[in-house]
Amino acid sequence: MIKIAPSILAADFANLERDIQKVRSADYLHVDVMDGLFVPNISIGLPVVEAVRKSTSLPVDVHLMIDRPVRYAERFCRAGADIVTVHVEADSEENTRRALEIIRAQGKRAGVVLKPGTPAEGVLPFLEECSMVLVMTVEPGFGGQKFMEDMMPKLRAIRGWIDERGLDCELEVDGGIDPVTCKTVTASGANVLVAGSSVYKAADIPGRIQELRG
Ligand code: DX5
Ligand code: ZN
Repeated sequence: MIKIAPSILAADFANLERDIQKVRSADYLHVDVMDGLFVPNISIGLPVVEAVRKSTSLPVDVHLMIDRPVRYAERFCRAGADIVTVHVEADSEENTRRALEIIRAQGKRAGVVLKPGTPAEGVLPFLEECSMVLVMTVEPGFGGQKFMEDMMPKLRAIRGWIDERGLDCELEVDGGIDPVTCKTVTASGANVLVAGSSVYKAADIPGRIQELRG
């Protein structure tokens, strides 16, 4: 089954509760945390994750676009995240592994994220420890960018490893997902689709969520 994770980065932050209710037919709620260091943008942090947690019964999927996420992994879990993903580019292999351990020790689902320039092999040191792998289909930092179709070989490679090893690991994509590109990513093995602008700009949001499931 294909799952849809609307990104609240495309919501109206002055009406966040209203905009969270608009996507309640989705599967996960995707929250983009940016620190202005790992990516050239600053978004939201711990207090907003706490507020989001109180406003939804959907699993909260926190995408940490922050430098050395091991420093904050436990606090995002305590703030109410159900899934926490960390970028492999954001710290050493040892610290990334530690971040995944911290997340799992909090009883949460842990995952790694790859920027477009990072090869598929970047997940290999962590794959057995992951409940989720997120492949970026835009450069992280901003919503509304153009989908990078050249990430499909990476997606297919990671789908192959997950299936060969029989891992209980979801494969998520993030960036430029719309009613056309959703078909490309699911054909390449993704099963969780993050979508910001294409969901929040739709006139019929529940209809758009259903359309993206394919
Ligand atoms: C980008 C974020 C995405 C963003 C996607 O750094 O990770 O989650 O909200 O936005 P769209 O769907 O508009 O490309
Ligand atoms: Zn994201």
